[in-house]
Amino acid sequence: QGIKLDQCANSTLCLPEKPKLVVGLKGATSNFFIDNAAYTQFLFKTFGVTSLDMESSAVVMTCLSNGYPVIAIRGLSDLARTQKGDNTIRLFGSLAALNTAKVVIGFVKSLSINHISRF
Ligand SMILES: *[C@@H]1O[C@H](CO)[C@@H](O)[C@H](O)[C@H]1NC(C)=O
Repeated sequence: QGIKLDQCANSTLCLPEKPKLVVGLKGATSNFFIDNAAYTQFLFKTFGVTSLDMESSAVVMTCLSNGYPVIAIRGLSDLARTQKGDNTIRLFGSLAALNTAKVVIGFVKSLSINHISRF
């Protein structure tokens, strides 16, 4: 918490609201890109899913099937078709990646040596 996230992709393109770090919501992951309002609303109503990605599944499956714990820290770049107009991933994907990297660095820095165990 408290990590300052960037709001602008460049000098002329900014998010309408400040991005924020949210901890503990229910994310879902799959192996395909979801850009469909009806499907995202179904996932929310049925499973309480608040975010979607298409990368964590591979990492999580690889870690868990080899006996390693895993934490996924994800940056969201778009509203999966619940927005007005075009999907914003091409505009804000790099900003989301930058902000996610800041969060990962902040998370790793916050770990004390006592939290790191050997497998
Ligand atoms: C900012 O990014 C947008 C979207 O990629 C692009 O169209 C625009 O030219 C960029 N502006 C500058 C100043 O780089």
